[in-house]
Amino acid sequence: MSRFQIAPQVAGLASYQPGKPIEETKRELGLDDVIKLASNENPFGPSPKATVAIAEALSELHRYPDGSGFHLKRALVRHLAAQGHTKTPDELVLGNGSNEILVFMMRALATSGANMVIGWPSFVVYPIAGQAAGFEVRRVPLVDYRYDVRALLEHVDATTRLVVVGHPNNPTGTYIPKPDLQRLADGLRDDIVLVVDEAYFEYADAPDYMSGLDLERKNVFVLRTLSKAYGLAGLRLGYGIGDKALVGYLNRVREPFNVNALALVGGAASLDDTAHVERSVRENARERARVGKAIAELGFLVVATQANFVLVDFRKPAMPIYDALLKQGVITRPMSPYDLHEHLRISFGTAAENDRLLRALGTVALGTVRA
Ligand SMILES: Cc1ncc(COP(=O)(O)O)c(C=O)c1O
Repeated sequence: MSRFQIAPQVAGLASYQPGKPIEETKRELGLDDVIKLASNENPFGPSPKATVAIAEALSELHRYPDGSGFHLKRALVRHLAAQGHTKTPDELVLGNGSNEILVFMMRALATSGANMVIGWPSFVVYPIAGQAAGFEVRRVPLVDYRYDVRALLEHVDATTRLVVVGHPNNPTGTYIPKPDLQRLADGLRDDIVLVVDEAYFEYADAPDYMSGLDLERKNVFVLRTLSKAYGLAGLRLGYGIGDKALVGYLNRVREPFNVNALALVGGAASLDDTAHVERSVRENARERARVGKAIAELGFLVVATQANFVLVDFRKPAMPIYDALLKQGVITRPMSPYDLHEHLRISFGTAAENDRLLRALGTVALGTVRA
């Protein structure tokens, strides 16, 4: 209860629960060596080109950043051209993480009585930010961890303004196969924005994976981030690609200097380091196959993933397993905020970190550690 008159849509919210930090875990459990496989970060760190560019920019920190992101947007235009997409800077919006762009989108589109449609479970920020903005949030259950496109479309009505899908989705790691993504886009009125959140785009390699950019529709808005494959989660940088009129409205609700000066230069330098991102993606693909198979061999159910994490179904309450792993210095992610009480989401680390995870999971499977 509060003495303040909190907006009802905010009063009813649960706050976002981040992955447990390494330092806090060390302190609480008296451990020296802790690994974090909880927040889908890149275990290989940032590009050295990014850290050099950031170091060089430090002496200019007394200046405000370039609020238009001129150079970074040009770097992104080149980056997208190399992927076969011709875009102009006015089709791009920059965010303090892609998370912030989701908030801009919801702020720009929510009106009284409007609804947005999401699959569930999907990234928990969608319902939190959507509700905070004033949307009625319609959660459409995934089927076998996958989006059910027909059901999504059935929940769309005259007051729907926005549909958001994770592609690949967090926390399931699944994606929407090309014909289904096409069907989803085809089934929406052209005044409804379809946000295709591609935070894990770089990691997806399924033959029938298709970026939302390939839909080439004015009402499709694609969201990407440098927090994952580019290893810059701490810097906070994401970008959105969409119709320039829509981007113009997002810029109206954007704060003037939302992307900081270090993110502007670090991001641009990072985009140039294709070798770094390619290595990160290659190593992830190898570990994804190896770790997925090993977890399944321990007798746990593994959801096929196209991302840098895997959702594991233990078919019994997962918190004791989370605690048992934590005591062995391995931080994973509880899934209760996603209504998955028998699951943990586990990010892939370096090969050595993953070996340690597998040893810890082995003790849980054998019952040598009570879980
Ligand atoms: C699906 C999805 N979208 C967006 C984000 C937000 O990422 P960021 O704000 O770091 O760009 C995340 C982060 O975990 C995510 O999983």
